Amino acid sequence: MKTIGALLWEPGTRSGWSVEEIEIDPPKSREVRVKLAASGICHSDDHVDTGDIPLDWAPIIGGHEGAGVIEELGPDVTGFEVGDHVVLSFLPSCGHCKMCTIGRSNMCEMGAGVLGGFAPDGTHRVHARGQGVGPFSYLGTFSPYVVVNIDSCVKIGKDIPLDKAALIGCGVPTGWGSSVYAADIQLGDTVVVIGTGGVGMNAVQGARHKGAKNIVTIDPVEYKRDQAKIFGATHTTENFEQCREVVDQLTEGQGADVVIITVDIAYGHLLNPAQEMTRRGGTLVLTAAAPVTQRDVPFDLFTFAMSGKRLQGTLYGTTTARRDIPLIADMYRRGEFKLDELVTKTYKLEDINTAFKDLREGKNIRGVIMYDD
Ligand SMILES: NC(=O)c1ccc[n+]([C@@H]2O[C@H](COP(=O)([O-])OP(=O)(O)OC[C@H]3O[C@@H](n4cnc5c(N)ncnc54)[C@H](O)[C@@H]3O)[C@@H](O)[C@H]2O)c1
Ligand SMILES: [Zn+2]
Ligand SMILES: [Zn+2]
Repeated sequence: MKTIGALLWEPGTRSGWSVEEIEIDPPKSREVRVKLAASGICHSDDHVDTGDIPLDWAPIIGGHEGAGVIEELGPDVTGFEVGDHVVLSFLPSCGHCKMCTIGRSNMCEMGAGVLGGFAPDGTHRVHARGQGVGPFSYLGTFSPYVVVNIDSCVKIGKDIPLDKAALIGCGVPTGWGSSVYAADIQLGDTVVVIGTGGVGMNAVQGARHKGAKNIVTIDPVEYKRDQAKIFGATHTTENFEQCREVVDQLTEGQGADVVIITVDIAYGHLLNPAQEMTRRGGTLVLTAAAPVTQRDVPFDLFTFAMSGKRLQGTLYGTTTARRDIPLIADMYRRGEFKLDELVTKTYKLEDINTAFKDLREGKNIRGVIMYDD
């Protein structure tokens, strides 16, 4: 079928996204065609344009936060029907590799290939200007239609609004799981979240769910500080110095039990001030993506070891998509999870470069591309 998509022809050059005609093949074995309702704009898409996530292939169709309705089934599809509502998970789970079988599907072997430039079977479903187009995260949700493997699809109830559900494909579980699983926050903890955008706001929600006593955020943007309180922040600050003061007061100088880094781009120099705010025996979680060239990290190793701290990286908030996507949808249904409040502004696909400009200027918690007929 012919439709439109937002592509990068020269990733890493800050060229911006080209919205143009694309051709999508019918679904092959174990694939479905999904008509998307919306796609979130995650900062990781921007990293491909800036080169912080470098690709050695092109073109790419961006977008990895989508939800929609299954329109067509390819051969060998089981467990899904036409009309099912699905969230597209930015990491697939095959269900049978070692990590999937031990309940750590964010580390699924299939997921290791998501930025390889092809569908999981090594071919292209999307074509433009006579060339094969690689999808971001096996998805490429910057198009009203996608053909994806069923291992990337997670069914949700038909009562959940799909434009909000789209965010459960990446930013929501990544932030929420950073608190709930990666940091393993305990009742009564003092938690610091550094950077409260689309991912960080959900780390705040996760900290609230785990019963944190104090949730202190840092963000230089006033709007983000105001909004963080709605998601559960007890104290909001503008920078590390202010945060350190607040944390010292709250903990009698002991430091935060947990510090989570969810800034737009992680640089090495953030790590030590974050460690200094972490109490003895506490946990520092790094969720934000760093430029892959970032290798130098000034870090007080002596204090780190001798005060028994834990530094924990996390992909997808250490969540298990097939468990956590329906769980979050259910919490939303019961009014226990804020999704509506995450959407600051909606855009048409044609205005995607404005959406990325707004992201870089810190205007949105989440910008969302809406697909209507
Ligand atoms: N680990 C994963 O699996 C995973 C998944 C999704 C996204 N990410 C990464 O998480 C990061 C956050 O993504 P996002 O979509 O929420 O981005 P975003 O742009 O929506 O939010 C980033 C926030 O950080 C704030 N910020 C910038 N510098 C800061 C500083 N020095 N101190 C405090 N706050 C600061 C910004 O004002 C903004 O509110 C990105 O690096 C993204 O690539 C990681
Ligand atoms: Zn993402
Ligand atoms: Zn697997």
